[in-house]
Amino acid sequence: MSAAATGYRTTARLLHWLVALLILSTLPVGQAMVQEGLSRPVQDALFIYHKNVGVIILLLMLLRLGYRLTHRAPPLPPHMPDWQRIVARTTHVALYVLVFVQAISGYVRVEAGGFPIEMLDALGVPPLVPRSEPLADAAKATHAVTRLLLVPVILLHIGAALQHALWQRDGVFSRMWPPIAR
Ligand code: HEM
Repeated sequence: MSAAATGYRTTARLLHWLVALLILSTLPVGQAMVQEGLSRPVQDALFIYHKNVGVIILLLMLLRLGYRLTHRAPPLPPHMPDWQRIVARTTHVALYVLVFVQAISGYVRVEAGGFPIEMLDALGVPPLVPRSEPLADAAKATHAVTRLLLVPVILLHIGAALQHALWQRDGVFSRMWPPIAR
């Protein structure tokens, strides 16, 4: 059986590409919204997008983790050297951990700071953390530091995927592409 035929199932693929797209928009929006000199309406719109999409990412990641823990990943192609398997595994675990820390720290920063999360407020979901300035400050610092780790790990992940897709052409990329399994 070819490596391409042993890819992830459609649920895993759809969750992967949806979360990827949302993170790739949330990162620059997060960066942009904290810049000086933005007009108030633009800044408000960016914050609303960032906070609400961030919560959607968190919910999708919970679904994804649940799915991943109950469905084994397809085996990597046999020709793949051990060092590449170790780097891939470490990168994937790091991505899960960093995205969770990024999203949870954002949520805590906002709720502990007493700010709205429009989608959750509209649904009547109460804050899961108490109002606390020290907690909000700690979460804010965590959010800022985690993105410094998250960005290089995402770049490594994308770089490796492109290298498999364009240079090695060994079927690894097609384990996750297209978003609907053939
Ligand atoms: C994986 C999801 C997320 C990513 C990738 C992300 C990324 C970022 C980035 C890059 C910044 C700019 C940091 C800086 O330059 O200091 C930022 C800021 C911020 N994020 Fe997120 N974020 C995520 C989730 C969330 C969530 C779920 C919330 C809240 C519900 C949130 C609320 C905020 C707030 C309030 C700021 C401004 C920081 C401050 O000055 O307080 N983020 N985020």
